[in-house]
Amino acid sequence: MELNQEQEVVSMPRIGEAAPEFKAITTQGEINFPKDYKGKWVILFSHPADFTPVCTSEFMTFASMEKQFNEANCQLVGLSVDGLYSHIAWLRTIKEKIEFKGMKDVEVTFPLIEDITMDVAKKYGMMMPGESNTKAVRAVFFVDPKGIIRTIIYYPLSLGRNFDELYRVLLALKTSDEFGVATPADWRPGDDVIISPAGNCGTAKDRMEGKEEGLECKDWFFCTKKLDKDLVLKKILK
Ligand code: BEZ
Repeated sequence: MELNQEQEVVSMPRIGEAAPEFKAITTQGEINFPKDYKGKWVILFSHPADFTPVCTSEFMTFASMEKQFNEANCQLVGLSVDGLYSHIAWLRTIKEKIEFKGMKDVEVTFPLIEDITMDVAKKYGMMMPGESNTKAVRAVFFVDPKGIIRTIIYYPLSLGRNFDELYRVLLALKTSDEFGVATPADWRPGDDVIISPAGNCGTAKDRMEGKEEGLECKDWFFCTKKLDKDLVLKKILK
């Protein structure tokens, strides 16, 4: 257990561990996290503050892509340390007034957690005092259908996230689970995947001698395999 300077418990969830549990009020009613999302992927993300421009551009982008995430069995849940009425007023203003990169009239229908006590933000390591004592950083947690944290990404206050990358991460995690493979740098569906030597895939000699069907090995530790894009999408977008 770690204590900060005010002697409060601060925790930092880790990849591979169960997502910390909490109940919270959101713009879509109460949620019990991660229990309510069992059987689904969920992206829990924090933003520094309502009525700020970078956050506004992020919410418009994420809301515009929500259907795409939902089709990959993934729900979105936002959080900031603002209150519910601030959230509601900000989301209404976005819908009524803001245009960004051709997006307008954008309605945010995924839940946005109010966390004025900062309890959830502290539980999830979203408060980083070196960056701000009063605002959460831009944290992103990918939680799998069993409630396990699978990827964590942090951005500072000034840097808007790349939502294509968040979608790519989701597809790569699902592909890895579905096909038992790893994905190389910049992987996208249709690209070759990596068959790790740590897996159940024969000896280094077998691999190098081409005894494993479909493997292309440059050396014992670097073997790739084709994985058809349609097959990947059929399996992970079901
Ligand atoms: C923004 O979303 O624009 C923002 C929020 C907090 C600090 C800096 C920028």
